[in-house]
Amino acid sequence: MKSELPPDLNIQAIDLFCGAGGLSHGLIKAGIGVKVGVDLDSSCKYAFEKNNNAVFLAKSVQDIEPTELLGYLESPNFVLLAGCAPCQPFSLYRQGKSDESDGRWNLLRSFQSLAVGMMPDFITMENVPRLAEQRVFSDFKVALEDAGYHIWAEVVDCTTFGVPQERQRLVLMASKHGAVALQPPANKCRKTVRQTIGELPKLRAGEKNDEDPVHQSAGLTLLNLARINVSKPGGTWRDWPEALIADCHKKKSGKTYPSVYGRMEWDKPSPTITTQFFGFGNGRFGHPKQDRGLSLREGALLQSFPSNYEFVEPGKPIEFSKVGRLIGNAVPVKLAEHIGRSFAKHAAGLVQAVR
Ligand SMILES: C[S@@+](CC[C@H](N)C(=O)[O-])C[C@H]1O[C@@H](n2cnc3c(N)ncnc32)[C@H](O)[C@@H]1O
Repeated sequence: MKSELPPDLNIQAIDLFCGAGGLSHGLIKAGIGVKVGVDLDSSCKYAFEKNNNAVFLAKSVQDIEPTELLGYLESPNFVLLAGCAPCQPFSLYRQGKSDESDGRWNLLRSFQSLAVGMMPDFITMENVPRLAEQRVFSDFKVALEDAGYHIWAEVVDCTTFGVPQERQRLVLMASKHGAVALQPPANKCRKTVRQTIGELPKLRAGEKNDEDPVHQSAGLTLLNLARINVSKPGGTWRDWPEALIADCHKKKSGKTYPSVYGRMEWDKPSPTITTQFFGFGNGRFGHPKQDRGLSLREGALLQSFPSNYEFVEPGKPIEFSKVGRLIGNAVPVKLAEHIGRSFAKHAAGLVQAVR
């Protein structure tokens, strides 16, 4: 994909832990040329390459050298090292387990080594808010500061960046050329579920749209069909008749999870899209009106992927768990686009200062 920035702003990026390319795609929309993405999971390759015209390296970030990555760049004026390490070790969904014995914590340290070994002009990282409290994150910041970077890091509300989804994220931006920060959006209107998926063709549970196979929803058992039928947008399983309530929810402990088996509300942003968003029982992921869970395409749109983003090679089977993981793990494209625009503005200021 061609950069739309002026030639003297030729910013090229390397995306660590690139997944299906949410972060890359947003950077590209901001005019940054993403050249290579690295991810251990080869099921990301098709989506990453097809939608972003960049090379996918199926490798561990732990086994890669700065020179190998820099070899993919084509005479850039500025280099951006971007990455979103797996958030599972820090995620609230882990319900309290977050000890450093989880090997995935070390992946942020590998990112840090690559950053310090490569010394790109700019660095960005995104993750769940809880990472901000962890030692591994303060070490990351100190290492960058010691290497001469100016750092900005804050927890942001994705809805303010045009993402139609409640999602809080920790964003770090760093520049070795001066202070940089995520620019506030021009328009702070919160996009809603209705504005995002309201016009999609109707589906029944278990049905696939003929024109867009990604617009398909998971099947529901007769019991879950009866449950969704009596579910209210924004409501909970407490709205159901006693006979439909699961035994685990009748127990005291189950009552602390009121948002499972709920429908989303049309005129609000959606709840956080997780990797399991296609399951009606996995959160408040019921369609606001139709008796089914969200389709994969609806989840992707709520993550602000464009409507034609491809996740699976045409003709290949679509596995809910695989595609759900690619979508739910992504950095929302619109947030990434704002990060990219903020770096572009910063770089433009640098170029102007030397003229
Ligand atoms: C949060 S997701 C990244 C999402 C991606 N940035 C996007 O916007 O679509 C984290 C990714 O890290 C990958 N991963 C996990 N361990 C890895 C490793 N050791 N090296 C490279 N990638 C790894 C996972 O396969 C997953 O795709």
